[in-house]
Amino acid sequence: MRLTCLRRVSTLFWHIFCDMYSKKSFGEVQVVMNETLEKTTFQNRITGILETEYPLIQGPMRSITLGEMAAAVSGSGGFGQIAFSGLTPGQLSEEIKKARKLTGRPFGVNIPLHRPYAREAIEISAALGVRVITTSGGNPSGVMDLIKQAGLKVLHKVSTLETALKAEAAGVDAVIATGYEAGGHLGRTDVTTFCLVPQLAGSLKIPVVAAGGVADARGFLAALVLGAEGVEVGTRFLATRECPLPERSKQLVLEARCESTLVMGRDEKMPVRVLKVTSSDSGQGAPVGGEGDVPVVTFFIPCGQSAGLCGELLGLGEVFPLMMEEARSISGQIAKFLMGGK
Ligand SMILES: Cc1cc2nc3c(=O)[nH]c(=O)nc-3n(C[C@H](O)[C@H](O)[C@H](O)COP(=O)(O)O)c2cc1C
Repeated sequence: MRLTCLRRVSTLFWHIFCDMYSKKSFGEVQVVMNETLEKTTFQNRITGILETEYPLIQGPMRSITLGEMAAAVSGSGGFGQIAFSGLTPGQLSEEIKKARKLTGRPFGVNIPLHRPYAREAIEISAALGVRVITTSGGNPSGVMDLIKQAGLKVLHKVSTLETALKAEAAGVDAVIATGYEAGGHLGRTDVTTFCLVPQLAGSLKIPVVAAGGVADARGFLAALVLGAEGVEVGTRFLATRECPLPERSKQLVLEARCESTLVMGRDEKMPVRVLKVTSSDSGQGAPVGGEGDVPVVTFFIPCGQSAGLCGELLGLGEVFPLMMEEARSISGQIAKFLMGGK
């Protein structure tokens, strides 16, 4: 296992070191390294499937990530997604058309398989030129024939090794491993991204995308070292200027710490991670009930632990390019460290 991890680190920096062996001084080596890193976009199997510049996916968020948001993220080099959850088939068509008008780049549609009209959503997506969808909330084997006949590629969201192996056997192109830190609906096993990703990467042949807890370049690079070939980012996009949440909600996300969320819905076997918000926080009147410091959740913002890492309000199109820029810079520091530099 340790050897696998070392191989992943060295693969990450292989292209940099290749050039370096032919150089003489540390200074020359550094110049080559910086030039190489300036150009890298981390192309791999995931960028091949998505046909994107970066292996960075905007997480679908019900009633939030619609056509405009998906188009803005795709336009910035990542993979934007329209969430079908909460839409009718007709509304989905409209959102896809809206996104298509705004960007020529690929974007996707997320289809929860347990919801009504999932099959129609697959057909509509294909008919309107979407090439990659993501699926969640169910076993994909029942719709794989339809997906493949429609010429679509599919990434399926999983939270356990068992469901990941089933999805791979069913023929999905990649899995999105969703850890316990993530915002929105979770698996029922409470396994963190840090443990789930290496487990899946070590057991599957298809690529793994990490979701849950990634809000910046540090999380992205950590996910690569764990064996992921891309990341899906949800919560970070709640704190963006164009996100259609009320301004007060965005402020609460920005003010949150990593410990500011809780998981609800366990009794109903539908766990969902939300921001702890009191009625006074929400601006909806005085707090009700609650003992001592225990907050009373009076309205829900599905939100991940990574709210504590968001830092500042960004433009939608800034999130992924900034993540790439910082990833290049951190990679440079790691490469320097591996070479024995300071
Ligand atoms: C407000 C919100 C709504 C979400 N809605 C959906 C959804 O409709 N479908 C889905 O597959 N995932 C949904 N998710 C999960 C995200 O797509 C993504 O996988 C997750 O946010 C990644 O973890 P992060 O929050 O730590 O970035 C939602 C997440 C949030 C925060």
